[in-house]
Amino acid sequence: MRLNFKRIFFLLLIFSIPNCLYAGDLHLGKEKAAIVCSACHGMDGQAVSGGNSPLTPNITAQEKEYLLAKLKDYKSGKINHPQMSLIAQMLSDEDIENVSEWYSKIKISIELPLE
Ligand code: HEC
Repeated sequence: MRLNFKRIFFLLLIFSIPNCLYAGDLHLGKEKAAIVCSACHGMDGQAVSGGNSPLTPNITAQEKEYLLAKLKDYKSGKINHPQMSLIAQMLSDEDIENVSEWYSKIKISIELPLE
């Protein structure tokens, strides 16, 4: 097969389609986080800012893939938790992408307790 520019362009297009389909929308993620997640995890992903106990994990700046995996596991029933399983079942696949986009994009700076 001769690879000319048209063919290369076509192949690039085909391989990039899944990425273009849905990568999460920051604005919609912020909206959903405000309505659903912030009550427990805070808008910034810090549970204390949502007025919550240390048993609610901080999710600030967590890897997006990790958030996606956890939320899908709660939704599918692979992980069971009285609160999070119910919450995740209320989320569509797009909601999961969007809120994961929001919490993973928060910028933090890290300081070690000792040098
Ligand atoms: C009613 C309170 C509540 C709400 C609302 C809530 N969560 Fe949670 N979330 C929790 C608690 C409690 C846990 C810890 C669950 C466990 O121990 O498995 C948790 C766990 C998680 C985890 C797993 C963290 C980890 O490291 O294991 C993620 C991710 C998460 N929540 C995201 C969200 C998102 C996104 C939303 C909004 C769509 C949301 N949560 C809404 C209480 C809540």
